[in-house]
Amino acid sequence: MLYIVGIGPGNREYFTEQAEKVLKDVDLIVCYKGYERYIKRFNKETYTTGMKKEMERVKYALNESKYKNVALVSSGDATIYGMASLAYELASKYNLSIPIKVVSGLTSASVCSAILGAPLNHDFAVISLSDLLTPLEVILNRVKHALEGDFVLAIYNPLSKSRKEPFLKTLDIIKEYGNKRNTNYIVGIVKNAGRDLEEHRITNISDIINNLEEYMEYIDMNTTIIVGNSNTKIILDKIITPRGYLNKYKD
Ligand SMILES: C[S@@+](CC[C@H](N)C(=O)[O-])C[C@H]1O[C@@H](n2cnc3c(N)ncnc32)[C@H](O)[C@@H]1O
Repeated sequence: MLYIVGIGPGNREYFTEQAEKVLKDVDLIVCYKGYERYIKRFNKETYTTGMKKEMERVKYALNESKYKNVALVSSGDATIYGMASLAYELASKYNLSIPIKVVSGLTSASVCSAILGAPLNHDFAVISLSDLLTPLEVILNRVKHALEGDFVLAIYNPLSKSRKEPFLKTLDIIKEYGNKRNTNYIVGIVKNAGRDLEEHRITNISDIINNLEEYMEYIDMNTTIIVGNSNTKIILDKIITPRGYLNKYKD
């Protein structure tokens, strides 16, 4: 049996009871090397690989699950830029009749939204800026259409040392829509949400553009950026996107 398990950001209090139970019960845990510290406490046989070795990891997990109960672990939710889709694709490709069960986890957008206030409290789009598997033009087109629809954006994989272009081009698009809507979009930046070095900043798009170098130094691959919509506000020092109750009902 193969379990595909989202563990949330990593710290123990974010594990669901279901994830906790599965990881206690399986024979083998397969995960990215960087997450080994989060699953060590289960004292299980583990198999880890580094960045860009996802195929190897998933193939190993599938193969081993012919004989054992295996947990293939992703951070956050395994069905949101995680390993779940690849596991199903490879199981189908190689005609493996292994039972697969996905265990959902708390995705970064959700954890970061709570840290910042309630910025995702209306329609939002999650977009990854990683152009490793998705062409940049597709990513930028999605950013444009999300802004055209006035969606709040939750941006994953914003920036890495070697991948700056998607971030810079996305900023240009946000600026363009800000000018069009006469809105200085409110932005929340959360690093290491739900982990030991958690930190966040609340700012706006002009501040980021005016202090670009500093922000590009600050933002890394463990960062999620949330860009408000034209109706997002700062309330009690938090980012709030209203649902519209106070427009409709008298308080
Ligand atoms: C490949 S995606 C994986 C997402 C994960 N499956 C989830 O549901 O959160 C990696 C991106 O998720 C975001 N992320 C993951 N962990 C994070 C954390 N602890 N704090 C903030 N963002 C995080 C970052 O944007 C990072 O670049």
